[in-house]
Amino acid sequence: MGVLEDKANARLFYKYLSTVYDEVNSFIWTAEMRREALGLLSLERDDRVLDVGCGTGFGTEGLLDHVDTVHGLDQSVHQMERAWEKFGKHGRVRFYRGDAERLPFRDDTFDIAWSSGSIEYWPDPVAGLAELRRVTRPGGQVLVVGPNYPSRRVLQELADAVMLFYDEDEADRMFREAGFTAFRHLTHGPRYSPDIAITTVAEVTE
Ligand SMILES: C[S@@+](CC[C@H](N)C(=O)[O-])C[C@H]1O[C@@H](n2cnc3c(N)ncnc32)[C@H](O)[C@@H]1O
Repeated sequence: MGVLEDKANARLFYKYLSTVYDEVNSFIWTAEMRREALGLLSLERDDRVLDVGCGTGFGTEGLLDHVDTVHGLDQSVHQMERAWEKFGKHGRVRFYRGDAERLPFRDDTFDIAWSSGSIEYWPDPVAGLAELRRVTRPGGQVLVVGPNYPSRRVLQELADAVMLFYDEDEADRMFREAGFTAFRHLTHGPRYSPDIAITTVAEVTE
């Protein structure tokens, strides 16, 4: 397990990274990638949408182009403080401080659950995925963006030491174990690394 797949370590990491997150992040997780991920969803303006690990709100901002309100949850108050600066604390985004693996919502609360760039920090990603499924209504969709497993061996060792990176086979296993039966993956990325991310969209069937 990588050093950042520990909730306390991840919180400490984001206490410092939050100050420069938006600048650094834009090289790895681009507006074009976000557009591609959003294109996998069927969104209606009045959908109830959850963004797990919303951070400073990059994914949230994309979702707000399509829906009126987003519910954003993150375990790092430092990351959410940056998001409050953008969206206000009580505007179109409702914020929750919480844990992806124990979501504070009833079953079937949302039409869409989205999580971009957060699963790699969850110590038990299958538990987190099962939570996304639980809080999404049957017929709804769950979308997760995570880091694709690098193909070069030297990078694999580094990746494994830091956090979760996964390929399509591993994504298949995790989504199945979390109870999903219908899902597909897209690998994408910026021009300099076109398969840096793996995005999975899953239908909630029951
Ligand atoms: C790389 S940032 C992604 C932020 C945003 N979703 C985006 O698209 O830019 C990862 C975020 O996941 C949050 N996070 C990590 N582990 C979490 C957990 N167990 N529960 C909730 N949030 C978590 C971090 O605090 C951080 O804000």
